[in-house]
Amino acid sequence: MCGIVGYIGEKKAKPILINGLLRLEYRGYDSAGIATIEGKEIKVIKNKGRVSELNNINDINNLNGTIGIGHTRWATHGKPSSINSHPHMDNSNNFSVVHNGIIENYADLKEFLKSHKYTFLSETDTEVIPNLIHFYYSTSTESGQTKFLKAVIDACKMLKGSYAIEVLSTYYPDNMIVVRKDSPLVIGKGKSENYISSDIPAILSFTKDFYLLNDLEFAFISRENISFYDENLNKITKEIKNITWNAGDVEKNGYPDFMLKEINEQPKSIRETIGSRLTLNSKVTITDLNLSKKYLESINRIFIVGCGTAMHTGITAKAIFENLCEIPVEVEVASEFRYKNPIINKSTLCLFVTQSGETADTIAALKLAKSKGAKTIAISNVIGSSITREADHTIYTHAGPEIAVASTKAYTSQITLLAILAIYFAEILEKNSNKINELKKDILLLPINVEKILKNTDKIKEFAKKIYKEKDVFFIGRGVDYSVSMEGSLKLKEISYIHSEAYPSGELKHGPIALIENGVTVISVLTNKLLLEKSISNLQEVITRGAKTFIVTNQKLTNDFDEVIQIPETNTLISPILSVVPLQLLAYYISKEKGLDVDKPRNLAKSVTVE
Ligand code: G6P
Repeated sequence: MCGIVGYIGEKKAKPILINGLLRLEYRGYDSAGIATIEGKEIKVIKNKGRVSELNNINDINNLNGTIGIGHTRWATHGKPSSINSHPHMDNSNNFSVVHNGIIENYADLKEFLKSHKYTFLSETDTEVIPNLIHFYYSTSTESGQTKFLKAVIDACKMLKGSYAIEVLSTYYPDNMIVVRKDSPLVIGKGKSENYISSDIPAILSFTKDFYLLNDLEFAFISRENISFYDENLNKITKEIKNITWNAGDVEKNGYPDFMLKEINEQPKSIRETIGSRLTLNSKVTITDLNLSKKYLESINRIFIVGCGTAMHTGITAKAIFENLCEIPVEVEVASEFRYKNPIINKSTLCLFVTQSGETADTIAALKLAKSKGAKTIAISNVIGSSITREADHTIYTHAGPEIAVASTKAYTSQITLLAILAIYFAEILEKNSNKINELKKDILLLPINVEKILKNTDKIKEFAKKIYKEKDVFFIGRGVDYSVSMEGSLKLKEISYIHSEAYPSGELKHGPIALIENGVTVISVLTNKLLLEKSISNLQEVITRGAKTFIVTNQKLTNDFDEVIQIPETNTLISPILSVVPLQLLAYYISKEKGLDVDKPRNLAKSVTVE
């Protein structure tokens, strides 16, 4: 969580930093701040609240420096307040630091520094960093740039935990040092200027050439040059990666919010994720994945691991893999998986699904699986993200940048890609070829079918107006319809703050039905033909107890429900890719009715880079 940005060049840093921070706000918005080098001084402007509120501080207009760092905070240590906001200075006011991550041993480091007469203003873990740098700088025997670099390296050697940091110093007014460990950081290369950011989209309008830092690689940056070092001060070479995303992809392009834009982008993101991987008359090809029949036959279990929406895609994909490949699949929340000593060996294949590729628990889960001998495949949307550097193989969704905190187009792209991967396995294993052809046709029709759903949103909007004041909403479904209900329920909680729960319809009578009373809303997805009658009986039971019902279905229904959203028919295995769309829109319209900030729901961040 937290976003950091930096600029070093010939332009004024302030507007660039503010612009970058506004784009990084999805990572946290408890407080914001920037620091620039002004002559011989570092000037810091910071405050509790949103990035845009920084512009209300008069002094900000006096910042003319061309080197600066910025931070938008998701509070961990120390409540949101001006004093706890970043950047943080050392006691001598010569070093300034912004930090994303958590310093786990900060209390010990604080004691160590206090014993050397350092004092602290904030309650944060971060404030130890500039002071440690000062400590090593002032006791150093080095000179020149090495003195600065060595002080930062020595300070980092003392830190336990995760960090992406940027350091400014009054002693080096034309340089900046940045480093990362288990928290994201990229450097964008320009002409006589360089940009630093927690992610690529925030600085995509300035450059498409990026250096992706690995853990404990230190970058010493000037306007013209970037030199990279390892923690032993050895110089290392790094390649520039050219990113193909467009600057327009990170703009709202006329939509009121990113979430609505991203919901509407799903036909395109699904189409691009399919790409040339799947066609009707040939076998699926997945570049960079060359798994043999012998290897696939040796697998006796697949784990699909992720967090939040990414984990939900696993629940849908489980049925696809089990159906086509006949290999048992277990789906796990990454934060549970990593601490439960899962039974894994070289016959286990582990898939890690993560849009950002930066989720701390998912990365830790992958490292665990790898250490136990499993083959690991990351499914990510962000080229060069941290997880892609840990996994044995990476397959990318091509959803384009997803900015809204609540994930939408990533979900549908991830299930699409997992379905393609399941077909890839089944074709190599020579299993279920009869089912595969039909499924392929339906996958290719997904973009058109999502377009059809997006053309008919009036009824969803109307229903949102009827229920936006509710306190509790229930989702029920069976099989794939239950799996998508979990995602629908998560969307509603995240952006509308309405308590909601998803249950398998058959579980109603084992508890939840006790909560159904007059006027309660029950949302149900009915796409599973084989289970249709049973699901309708369950709905009848809640209607009898006074529930209002909102149904998403691809079947012809004759029953009397409060609202029925008709979606196109498709293969049951992938129907969540279509049925989720009305649920995303319902959550969206409810949030709008309530006047909430759809893209930046309270307490949530898009990338959860700490545990
Ligand atoms: C956060 C986001 C969710 C996302 C989840 C996993 O909770 O708010 O939208 O699904 O993290 O993120 P990942 O980047 O790993 O897919």
